[in-house]
Amino acid sequence: MADRRNANHLTAGFLCFALLTTLSSAIFSPPDNYLIACGASSAATLDDGRTFLPDHSGPSRPTFRADGHRVSPLHNPSHDVATLHRAASIFACPCSYEFEIKNKGVHFIRLHFYPFATPDYDLSYARFHVLASGFTLLSDFGTSTPLLKEYLINLDEGKFNISFAPAGRSFFGFVNAIEVVSAPKGLILDVARLVNPSQITKFDGLSKQAMETLYRINVGGPKVTPFNDTLWRRWVPDLEYLTPGSSSEIVTFSGRIKYQKYGASREVAPDNVYNSARAMNSSGVSGADYNMTWEFPVASGYKYLVRMHFCDIASMALNQLYFNVYINGNLAYGDFDLSESAGQMLAILCRLCCGCQCFGALKHIDWPVQAE
Ligand SMILES: *[C@@H]1O[C@H](CO)[C@@H](O)[C@H](O)[C@H]1NC(C)=O
Ligand SMILES: *[C@@H]1O[C@H](CO)[C@@H](O)[C@H](O)[C@H]1NC(C)=O
Ligand SMILES: *[C@@H]1O[C@H](CO)[C@@H](O)[C@H](O)[C@H]1NC(C)=O
Ligand SMILES: *[C@@H]1O[C@H](CO)[C@@H](O)[C@H](O)[C@H]1NC(C)=O
Repeated sequence: MADRRNANHLTAGFLCFALLTTLSSAIFSPPDNYLIACGASSAATLDDGRTFLPDHSGPSRPTFRADGHRVSPLHNPSHDVATLHRAASIFACPCSYEFEIKNKGVHFIRLHFYPFATPDYDLSYARFHVLASGFTLLSDFGTSTPLLKEYLINLDEGKFNISFAPAGRSFFGFVNAIEVVSAPKGLILDVARLVNPSQITKFDGLSKQAMETLYRINVGGPKVTPFNDTLWRRWVPDLEYLTPGSSSEIVTFSGRIKYQKYGASREVAPDNVYNSARAMNSSGVSGADYNMTWEFPVASGYKYLVRMHFCDIASMALNQLYFNVYINGNLAYGDFDLSESAGQMLAILCRLCCGCQCFGALKHIDWPVQAE
């Protein structure tokens, strides 16, 4: 899948996803918090403490409604699987889930797909579209491997629909679980830098964009699961994306990270992410000029938002850290001085929004496609 032509580069002088060790508990309490175990016959509680309610049976929930006559539950014959993989809702004609949104703003939409097979259905043969809030989240989609799709969409108060439609007459669709969860205010700030080959411009209105999460990387650190994240996200180690020749050293920190009032918050990234980093030390390198580069395969035709988290757990003294940040070889930040921006052990977040030729972590879904 890693098409080299589509692969783009992020080159950074020093990238630090730094910070703290103690167990982070999820303190943020989302105003909208719909957790649906599709096809399940009873509530499903995960090891991260969240409880997913069934979409078919159980007490009536006026704030959430499924097209009951169009979706059918399907139970996984295998019981030795994760809680949310034990059942699915399947549909042979268009159907939708309707949610009452109490608090407008950016919401996480997560769709869980775990294709299992019963004597009657093999979910890996499903082909369908998913639409939400005027955006096509998935088009002609099918999967033979487990997938979690995550989107960030700005929702207004009132009704919000997620619609599923089979991709053709002989097809059907399925979903194992749905999450519609408020994100904290300010998680996605409104302004970013738009990095183009010729210039950097300002990008406004970021929080109103619909985006898909593509990569969420814990630099120099381990996998972080929803159990250990403040917003039930998943972060994966960066090694797979680091290009050969990116010499760097992993730095870890066991003190307490200081989150600052106008800096990153524990919700922006948890302690488990900030307590590791990769550092480059050019003073020991002849020529003193080298790069640390991550490469992410992406599709062309979209804009990509790159969020870089910095917490200085590496420098011995102030004003030692100077580096450039490149996106696809274009200078995004020159002579970036972390000690001025962040200070020691303070978490900050940089936002870069780059043009269509760039790579990113969040994909702007700006080409809605109509389902059949
Ligand atoms: C949501 O879907 C239902 C059923 O398809 C429809 O009646 C309703 O108008 C839709 N609501 C919105 C806000 O699109
Ligand atoms: C959560 O983080 C702690 C400390 O980093 C780690 O020991 C533990 O294994 C993690 N738990 C899960 C379920 O990821
Ligand atoms: C960087 O390398 C130099 C020379 O090898 C060393 O003296 C210095 O302590 C290193 N700095 C850090 C922050 O590791
Ligand atoms: C580091 O990357 C930048 C941007 O791609 C490039 O201009 C520079 O020459 C690279 N430096 C080295 C030593 O490869």
